Amino acid sequence: MPGTVLVGAQWGDEGKGKITDLLARDFDYVVRFQGGNNAGHTVVHGDKHLALHLVPSGVMYDDVVPVIGNGCVVDPKVLLNEIDTLAESGVSAERLVISSHAQMIMPWHIDLDGASEKNLGTQKIGTTKRGIGPTYQDKAQRTGMRMGDLLDPEYFRERLEAAIASKNILLKDVYGLDTYDVDAVYDEYMGYAKRLGSHIADTVTLLNDAMEAGKNVFFEGAQGTLLDIDHGTYPFVTSSSTTAAGASTGSGVGMKWINRVVGITKAYLTRVGSGPFPTELNDEVGELLTTVGAEFGVTTGRRRRCGWFDGVIIKYAARVNGLTDICLTKLDVLDSLETIKICVAYDIDGKRVESLPDSLKDFTNAKPIYEELPGWCEDITGCRKFEDLPANAQAYVKRIEEISGVKVSIVAVGPDRDQTIMRSW
Ligand code: GDP
Ligand code: IMO
Ligand code: MG
Repeated sequence: MPGTVLVGAQWGDEGKGKITDLLARDFDYVVRFQGGNNAGHTVVHGDKHLALHLVPSGVMYDDVVPVIGNGCVVDPKVLLNEIDTLAESGVSAERLVISSHAQMIMPWHIDLDGASEKNLGTQKIGTTKRGIGPTYQDKAQRTGMRMGDLLDPEYFRERLEAAIASKNILLKDVYGLDTYDVDAVYDEYMGYAKRLGSHIADTVTLLNDAMEAGKNVFFEGAQGTLLDIDHGTYPFVTSSSTTAAGASTGSGVGMKWINRVVGITKAYLTRVGSGPFPTELNDEVGELLTTVGAEFGVTTGRRRRCGWFDGVIIKYAARVNGLTDICLTKLDVLDSLETIKICVAYDIDGKRVESLPDSLKDFTNAKPIYEELPGWCEDITGCRKFEDLPANAQAYVKRIEEISGVKVSIVAVGPDRDQTIMRSW
């Protein structure tokens, strides 16, 4: 069981933090392989609540090594804040290893993220404004700076001078924003280098050596399948490969080591930011899901849009990720509903469509076709075995299994690490 990948099967916030924290105890390494501090992963143990943005959710265990892989984008300032906040809660990130090849978020990336959103007007993506898109843009353009550059001050300065020369033109002449001074940014980032330098390493060798030595590695996805740059609802996506194959490119670990791909999905659906959402509910049920599910973003505090579970999306996620298992979370949020709907197909211009539409226009016009299931109307937060769940809750889980064609191995019935049913893990 050397490599397990956990990916969001929806639009993010499916409970990746909780489940990574739970499963990490059986692994030696927990790796973030894409994204940056646009992510907000919640870990809850009793009265301890942690919101992780960049540090992998396996950090709670002393014998797990958390790794930020080469596919990530790192804002050193934010990372240091996170490390300090963790320390205040008694959690040490001393073992954290950061890939020297991870791209670095620079201050202008954040400015440009904001400016681009402003310019897009009604077309805006609704980004987290953490500089994610502009940083990946520079990676692809080959003008980015990487974490390893901090270890070579002379080279860092050369890259910085070139970057600032072109970014200042863009910032000032195109967007009318403030420009940057090389010395000031150099000093600021050399300050980060002092604290982070000992954490920066060749994680590709580290992870491959570990796997060859028989260690187990857990890959913690961020965002979700429909936010994938290739497979998501483009352009309303993030800028990285959030699907399972991203674990390989984003860590340098070959596919042969990955033998379990877990798709995590809520028992309903949420989305933060713009873009189509066929099963979105703007009624009292949507309100109930928001309130009972506490659906407010961990990173930006934005209210999440809520809707019914979408079977078309889970089927798609099963395919593009090659899911071997599903982890179904937040089933307890549906406890009070008498009837629960699952979208099984879309009506697009009078035609029944059972797979994810290829064009965003069709997806935007898709009207959900629902199947109704009876609710269970009881509190399931105390259930720890699948058989403890009311018959209607079991039937709901089994229906999701039928639709997706993938075994639901784990069911979560509350935010705490312990509020979990390990059905076939
Ligand atoms: P992530 O980004 O995928 O890690 O998910 P978030 O942490 O952004 O959002 C998930 C939210 O749901 C967090 O507040 C979790 O504490 C909470 N949560 C996770 N699993 C469950 C569950 O089974 N039931 C309930 N009620 N809350 C859960
Ligand atoms: P976790 O890991 C939910 C969304 C943003 C926006 C789009 C692009 O906690 O599930 P970006 O800042 O990445 O350029 O924004 O992606 N988004 C998320 N939505 N959960 C996340 O992370 C997200 N990270 C980005 O709201 O729609
Ligand atoms: Mg989140």
